[in-house]
Amino acid sequence: MSTLKDKFHQLEEKSRQAELGGGQDRIDRQHSAGRKTARERLIDLVDPGTFVEMDKFVVHRSRDFGMEKNLIPGDGVVSGYGKIDGRLVYVFAQDFTVFGGTMSRANADKIVKIMDMAVKMGAPVIGLNDSGGARIQEGVESLAGYADIFYRNVMSSGVVPQISAILGPCAGGAVYSPAITDFIIMVKDSSYMFVTGPEVIKTVTHEEVTKEELGGAIAHNSKSGVAHLTAENDEHAMMMLRELIGYLPSNNMEDAPVLPCTDDLNREDEKLQTLIPDDPNKPYDMKELIKIVVDNHNFFEVQPLYAQNIIIGFARLAGRSVGIVANQPSMLAGVLDINSSVKAARFVRFCDAFNIPLITLVDVPGFLPGTTQEFGGIIKHGAKLLYAFAEATVPKITLITRKAYGGAYDVMSSKHIGADVNFAYPTAEIAVMGADGAVNIIFREKMTDEERARTVEDYRDTFANPYKAAELGYIDEIIYPKQTRFKLIQALEMTQNKRKSNPPKKHGNIPL
Ligand code: HXC
Repeated sequence: MSTLKDKFHQLEEKSRQAELGGGQDRIDRQHSAGRKTARERLIDLVDPGTFVEMDKFVVHRSRDFGMEKNLIPGDGVVSGYGKIDGRLVYVFAQDFTVFGGTMSRANADKIVKIMDMAVKMGAPVIGLNDSGGARIQEGVESLAGYADIFYRNVMSSGVVPQISAILGPCAGGAVYSPAITDFIIMVKDSSYMFVTGPEVIKTVTHEEVTKEELGGAIAHNSKSGVAHLTAENDEHAMMMLRELIGYLPSNNMEDAPVLPCTDDLNREDEKLQTLIPDDPNKPYDMKELIKIVVDNHNFFEVQPLYAQNIIIGFARLAGRSVGIVANQPSMLAGVLDINSSVKAARFVRFCDAFNIPLITLVDVPGFLPGTTQEFGGIIKHGAKLLYAFAEATVPKITLITRKAYGGAYDVMSSKHIGADVNFAYPTAEIAVMGADGAVNIIFREKMTDEERARTVEDYRDTFANPYKAAELGYIDEIIYPKQTRFKLIQALEMTQNKRKSNPPKKHGNIPL
């Protein structure tokens, strides 16, 4: 009969075995590929000593291809819960050292379990992906496991934040779980995502492309817009996850955590007075404005490499988390196009789902003209941004710094689609279009260069300013640039207890 000591020893031994994953050789291989193991990543991610592992001894139930003789406790995924800055999060980390981190039925059940608990307890789910995909030996059971996860990704969407880090392979249908989550972080040079890999592409389309070019961190952060953040390595990815979680509430019934503000709420900055150039065609960097204004100049930019004509990201004002959407005049003059509209629309919907107020900074000459845009569907994609801003019920504060032309004026969180506070700088130009274009259309008769210049000047004086809109109450207040921080904080405070809900419906029909 085994003694009490034996029983404790047995637990110790089983734990040790589980923690060794696929064994030292495979751990060494993981390290030599510049990647950390699932457990090492978890140590970096959560507050020290807070990780509680669940289902450590779960093994797969496959009895084909000799798998019954190959049982490794944990079965290729480490799952459980822990804390980030003292707040509960659920995590799963695919363990590449065990069956290549592949998805088995048992492995999927572990992920499903923590996803269900996350919704029940109202806490975010973080997935650390590093997997060879469907475990081939399990066939349809693996596909079923994926689908169970996809289903929960959808049901949890807008209920608890879901964040994915891609830290190794993520291919085939497996990509669709991260795709549904709210944010994807990819590690440079060691992660990739694609639906079909280079070999299949070569066979089908004869294109030659490397894994990195096709689905690496840079490809998805700058070209496809699938990913939101780029990390230098695994450790950096975990730091980014921690920082991102700090801006988010734990679930859709809560507000994001408010931190004590160490920055002067009334801080004025003379630099802002001259940031907008006199010449309306001269660019300036909207990020500079954002960084001057927000608490401690900390701006957590999301998708910084994609559709750079629009800026999105999180910051704090008076300690409260805000989502910022801003046209970027230094990139394509800040024009709205397909990619920037979709980028911003998804961000606006995220912020609205999770009670994060929206600050919109406007300097937009309009929508990008051209057949590429029209054939690509700028009509429906631009409509997404309009739809997202209009349906958002969180506090919405808008500041027009310079141009707000045409349809883009309406779209960029104008008063008419429900913004609560609309500011403009004295440099704002709110009109149907720029002065040159307007004069070309309404004065078709021949004019001398001198007459034309005078007419353009007339148009500019009459329309290219914020005063017409202010006379009509479409702009609530015209502010001095140096006061921006204080004014935004004041508006945020005023809208703090906003109550607004849209008419009851099953769901709207956003133009997808
Ligand atoms: C079972 C797998 C596996 C898989 C890898 N392994 N992929 N086992 N099913 N899909 C195992 C390997 O046998 C190996 O086991 C260990 O994981 C590590 O794999 P290696 O090949 O040695 O590693 P590496 O050289 O780094 O290559 C990694 C890889 C490669 C690029 C991921 O293994 C690979 O191409 N695997 C197949 C990927 C794939 O086709 N997956 C199915 C995609 S379709 P040992 O015991 O030797 O350590 C899919 C559909 C999902 O996923 C559908 C959802 C709807």
